Amino acid sequence: MSYPLSRRAFLGVIGVSGLGVSGAALALGACSSNGGGSSGGSADGVAGAAFAAPEVLRSANGRLAVTLRAAPAQLPWGTTTRYALTYNGSSPGPTLVVAPGDELVITLENGLDEPTNLHTHGLHVSPGGDADNVFVMVAPGKSHTYTYAIPRTHRSGTFWYHPHHHGSVAPQVSGGLAGMIVVRDALDDLAAIAAADERVLVLADPRIGRDRGVLDASMMTRMQGRQGDAVLVNGLLQPDLGATTDRLQHWRIVNASASRYHRLALDGHPLHVLGTDGGRLAAPVERAEVLLAPGERVELLIAPTAPGRHVLRARAYDRGSSGMGGGMMGGGSNGRTSDVALATLVVAAGTSAGAALPATVADAATVAPVPAPTATRTLTLAMGMGGGMGGGMSFTIDGRSFDDARTDIRIAAGTVEEWTIRNTSGMDHPFHLHVWAFQVVEPAGVGGWKDTVSVPANGQVRIRIPFTGLTGRTVYHCHILDHEDLGMMGVIEVA
Ligand code: C2O
Ligand code: CU
Ligand code: CU
Repeated sequence: MSYPLSRRAFLGVIGVSGLGVSGAALALGACSSNGGGSSGGSADGVAGAAFAAPEVLRSANGRLAVTLRAAPAQLPWGTTTRYALTYNGSSPGPTLVVAPGDELVITLENGLDEPTNLHTHGLHVSPGGDADNVFVMVAPGKSHTYTYAIPRTHRSGTFWYHPHHHGSVAPQVSGGLAGMIVVRDALDDLAAIAAADERVLVLADPRIGRDRGVLDASMMTRMQGRQGDAVLVNGLLQPDLGATTDRLQHWRIVNASASRYHRLALDGHPLHVLGTDGGRLAAPVERAEVLLAPGERVELLIAPTAPGRHVLRARAYDRGSSGMGGGMMGGGSNGRTSDVALATLVVAAGTSAGAALPATVADAATVAPVPAPTATRTLTLAMGMGGGMGGGMSFTIDGRSFDDARTDIRIAAGTVEEWTIRNTSGMDHPFHLHVWAFQVVEPAGVGGWKDTVSVPANGQVRIRIPFTGLTGRTVYHCHILDHEDLGMMGVIEVA
């Protein structure tokens, strides 16, 4: 897939209030090319660019083999450039499209000056060996080939990949290392869905600057969880998404921000939730807004109502404070975000009547409730004074900071557990478990399969997890990636 690199002439000075984007972002309607003809994420820093999506790489004959080279690059930004970490020169990296039963082979080349690795977030694949093994470390200048066997029974859905090297996940992901993985099956061929305009939206909020200093963050900022200067969709600032009244929009959205929550709403339109982290719902569920915590995905159907411009926004949200520094550190250390425009749906009149929403989008078996648990367990997410890295706070699960040599939870393969995940701190933590998807029992949401769920400040959630299909040793953690780096992660082994 490619898109015209010429951009709509747009002359103006934009100021993104509350986001700290300072100075003029000017473009003179010039072409901006990110070289090599890749369509991926050339962020031009000018609102109103045409929507563009990362390059798509599809499996053929049951296999997709790709090389992803992680390396810094200067990406176009207004009349200048911004420093970013990229896969194959773009941020986000290419979208990988596979099917159940496929073999996915990714050779990761490390062109960074520090260790990195790769994780396939949400895929139900082995966490061992050369598969989705987060304990693998790829040194600078080295490469590693990951081979993932995607089970024939894998649910279709929207997943993503990003680095997972403990201690540097937040700077690497917020620097730009992330891309989407789409698993497609017959559900994508349902007439109403196949006829929709399908779009990938990778949401991220990098810091904007000319050098690698954008990856640095103070201990205070890390405790709160870093937030960037601009909220981008596929690397673009407030792109225009073209649509017509006679076609549904099908959006696959991932929150690839290191810490920022996106409370999504589209002016003048309800959101029809089609799927969550781990696959489809049985039928679309209508919502006025959807809160997407870091790591979470949602698939939406939108029925464009009337010609005009409709803003997709992230509404104001407060994810709480670490209690350290509050708002005293230049605004960077509290969890409040103001209302931000993410993109504009630009709707033109269609030639036929509006497309109807499908009544069902998956069969009941896809989303059957998890059976009653064979065991229960309580996990406690906490932030404490002292004992933490750098003399700051400690970030713990069940009182312990991450230690890759320790196994915190052992599970017998084939069992179903119900976990109560408590949060004793004053800020939200998105809890994420690798490999085994779960359903949220409390609070009741839209239902469906999840791998990441926000545990609200001083609150709790209950989830049910079938530990079926695969065995191995991997991790669970807070997906505010600075918190993961600071130790809010544990090791689980299913055998
Ligand atoms: Cu998206 Cu363990 O991560
Ligand atoms: Cu993950
Ligand atoms: Cu956290």
